[in-house]
Formats: sequence, C-alpha cells, structure tokens
Amino acid sequence: MRGLEDKVVIITGAASGIGKATALRFAEEGANVVVADFADGTATVKEVTEKGAQAIYVQVNVTDPESVRTMTAKTIEAFGKIDILINNAGITKDAMMKKMTKEVWDAVIDVNLTGVFNCTSAVLPYMLERQAGVVLTASSVVGIYGNLGQTNYAATKWGVIGMTKSWAKEMAKNGLRFNCVAPGFIGTDMVKKIPEQVLQDKILVKVPAGRLGEPEEIAAAFAFLASDDAKFINGTVLSVDGACTL
Ligand code: CAA
Ligand code: NAI
Repeated sequence: MRGLEDKVVIITGAASGIGKATALRFAEEGANVVVADFADGTATVKEVTEKGAQAIYVQVNVTDPESVRTMTAKTIEAFGKIDILINNAGITKDAMMKKMTKEVWDAVIDVNLTGVFNCTSAVLPYMLERQAGVVLTASSVVGIYGNLGQTNYAATKWGVIGMTKSWAKEMAKNGLRFNCVAPGFIGTDMVKKIPEQVLQDKILVKVPAGRLGEPEEIAAAFAFLASDDAKFINGTVLSVDGACTL
C-alpha cells in the first residue's frame, strides 16, 4: 500500500520547482492531485496523469481570497474532499534593507504570508467537518536564520512557522495537523535569480553538503509529513538543508 493512497492534495505553486516535484511524488504515493498555480500547470498535470494518478489544474492567485475559494470549490467538485493542503507558492523580491521599497515588501508579504492565510482559511471548513486534514507550508532556512537582501522574505518564512504552531495548538484536538518544511538552497528558478558570484562565493561555501538540494528531496519531506507515519508530528519544522545551518 502506498503512503497517500486516495488522498486528495492541493499543491499551490505546483507548475514548477518544488511544487511540481511534490505533485509527482504524491502521484507516486497514490494521491489525487490539484495543481494550483498562477502560472500554467497543465504540463504538471500531464506528468502526474502519466504516473496513473488523477489530477486537475486550477489557476489560482493565492493573494485573492475569491480565487482561492474557487480553487477549493473546484477541488470538491472534482474529488469530493480535501485531505491535504501544501502551501508551496512563494516569491522573492530581494534587496538590501537600505534599498527595500514598501512595494516589494508588500508584494512578498501578500504571496508568502497572506496567501498561506487565504489558502488555509479556505480548506479548514472541509477539514474540520471531517475532523481530519494536514496542512504543510514551505518555510525556509532564511526564515529561521535570516539572509542578506531578504528582509521581506525572511519575515514571511518565519511568520508561517508561527502561524503553523498556532494552528496546531488550536486544532490538534480536531484531528488536524500543521507542519512546515524549511528547505535550504534548492536548484529551482528561484535560486537562479541569485547573482552567480554570490551563490558560489557566499552561499554554497557554507553548505557542508557542498551542493544545492534537489526539489525531489523537499517533495520527500512533504510526502512523509503528509502520511500517517507522521501522525503524531504536529506544529513542527523539518529542516531539509544539507546541514547549511550548522
Ligand atoms: N549572502 C552573503 N553575502 C551576500 C548575499 C548573501 N545572500 N547577497 C549579497 N551578498 C554580498 C555580496 O556578495 C556583496 O559582497 P561584496 O561587497 O563583498 O562584494 C554585498 O553583499 C553586496 O551585494 P551586491 O553588490 O549584490 O548588492 P546589490 O545591492 O546590488 O544587490 C541583492 C543586493 C539584491 C541582495 C543581491 O546581492 C542578491 O540578490 N543577493 C542574493 C540574495 C539571496 O541570497 N537570495 C536568496 C534567493 S533564493 C531563496 O530565497 C530561497 C530560499 O528560501 C533559500
Ligand atoms: P518556483 O519559483 O520554482 O515556484 C514557485 C511557484 O509559485 C511558481 O510556479 C509560481 O507561478 C507560483 N506562484 C507565485 N506566486 C503565486 C500566486 N500569487 N498564486 C499562485 N501561485 C503563485 O519556486 P520554488 O523554488 O519551487 O519554491 C517553492 C516554495 O519553496 C516557495 O514557497 C519558496 O519560498 C520555498 N523555498 C524555496 C527554496 C529554494 O531554494 N528554491 C528554499 C526554501 C524555501
């Protein structure tokens, strides 16, 4: 028996990177997958269905509560329930604090923090009704330890840890679980925006593993935390970072 047989999972930001790898891993574990992204997710859906799983693409802007409500409605229409939400959609808009504008502060808060609030709010009625559900959120090594040029991003990635712990305290008694995964630097489009010199000379030199992580290595952590093997794990943060924080 696979670990997520017949579970229904919504993965935000599943058109690319970590979200796409997670969609494929959940398909291998037997889940039905909702590929929820602002960008076109039909390629992810195709690859998921090639693995024998069911999948739909729903275009969503996580910053817009109405769009998020449509995402949950379409999930219920297609699959009848929501077992797992993975709050994975995220953006960076990096600048040193002395140059950071209110505009880029707001943009990152809107997606990475308010987006997580919006999506979690929208799935809760369905999970509370069944007294079962798992909400996993992408934090980051940057949320826990900070990073040059990432005041806005660090605030959101630390913020989601506080939200996750609060939700676990509120709703563990209702059979719901809430956890974060805190990836280190992973080889996706997001990391490609880092100036090459900074990546090589300032970041990778501090990773004892000596390399970027693979999106699949984060997907594996999400799959474990979503499964019943993690049924007593609630309100925690799992770091998957090649020891870069030691
Ligand atoms: N770590 C260590 N040093 C850094 C750094 C970092 N992340 N980012 C910049 N620096 C250093 C630069 O090497 C440079 O050092 P020197 O003066 O010794 O040359 C100094 O800070 C100033 O940098 P810039 O000249 O590049 O300054 P800028 O104002 O033109 O640009 C910046 C600043 C936009 C922050 C740019 O440097 C940058 O994009 N840095 C990368 C920031 C980063 O690490 N982002 C992570 C994105 S991936 C992600 O966020 C996923 C995740 O969760 C891990
Ligand atoms: P990515 O840039 O490859 O993918 C992010 C996805 O989110 C994209 O498909 C994008 O279209 C979607 N998205 C952005 N704004 C959206 C919105 N408003 N509504 C709906 N979808 C939206 O990024 P990556 O690397 O796969 O990151 C996934 C998550 O993991 C993010 O939350 C990121 O902060 C986090 N993370 C990434 C790390 C890395 O090194 N790549 C490290 C630590 C955390």
